[in-house]
Amino acid sequence: MDANAVIVEQFDRGAAWFDTWSVTGDERMLEGLAEFCGLTEDDDVLDVACGTGAFALHAAGRVRSVTGVDISTGMIGVARDKAVALGLGNVEFVRSDVARLDLGADRFSPVVSRSAFHHMPLVAEVFAGMVRCARPGGVVCVQDVMAYGDEKVDAFFERLEAVVDRSHHRSLGKREFFDLYRANGVALEALFESESLLDVAHYIEHVEQTEENRAQVDRLVREGLGDPDIAPWFVQDGDRLRWRRRVCTIKGRKAEADQNHRIG
Ligand SMILES: C[S@@+](CC[C@H](N)C(=O)[O-])C[C@H]1O[C@@H](n2cnc3c(N)ncnc32)[C@H](O)[C@@H]1O
Repeated sequence: MDANAVIVEQFDRGAAWFDTWSVTGDERMLEGLAEFCGLTEDDDVLDVACGTGAFALHAAGRVRSVTGVDISTGMIGVARDKAVALGLGNVEFVRSDVARLDLGADRFSPVVSRSAFHHMPLVAEVFAGMVRCARPGGVVCVQDVMAYGDEKVDAFFERLEAVVDRSHHRSLGKREFFDLYRANGVALEALFESESLLDVAHYIEHVEQTEENRAQVDRLVREGLGDPDIAPWFVQDGDRLRWRRRVCTIKGRKAEADQNHRIG
């Protein structure tokens, strides 16, 4: 099955559950991202791989318009229902593969993607499309989990992710995020590095699991806890085991029209 088929199958089936996952609707994180993007009432937000619309709907009350794009009909369906329930008239959701973004050039700011790049084999195409859609002088912002920058630690957690979540492709490193901005002539403005303390048991269940998967995850976690290089990335919190997942939020600005002309 190709990567997009796995993504569509998983998110179509799990849309309602994903929407109720505490990380999806974490108000503090959503507000942090809104502030980081510096939303204003003149903004036309594009939310790339918007899922069930958590950020799109959070942003809608304070901007002119929001467009959310996602490849999963199930996720888009939940997002649309929520927009209707909230009585929001300035939000639309479009089903599309964001590796082939075709919403017109120079239209949006900010163009945002949250928690999605690690699913995508074609991040270069996705990011180039985000920049194409951004207004000259507009903000391009990516928030996602980030690699640890240590070969052994990254190899371990990528193995864990591959078992937990079949739609996980790869966590990018900070340099790789920067390179995307540089390669597309987007000036870097701000970087915020943080940690999400994921409840391991809860995280595993954010996608449907087989008993065999659960056993494999259990074995891997025990292996990690027994390894002095890996164990520090887990934290015992009462009876909950938590995983210190690194998160990176990057903001850049597309060149103004006259600069684009000179570059082009
Ligand atoms: C972990 S969810 C994050 C959703 C949302 N951004 C949020 O923060 O709640 C990842 C989303 O990426 C979408 N996605 C992955 N690859 C995609 C692609 N090539 N085109 C469009 N959407 C994609 C999935 O369908 C899923 O809704």
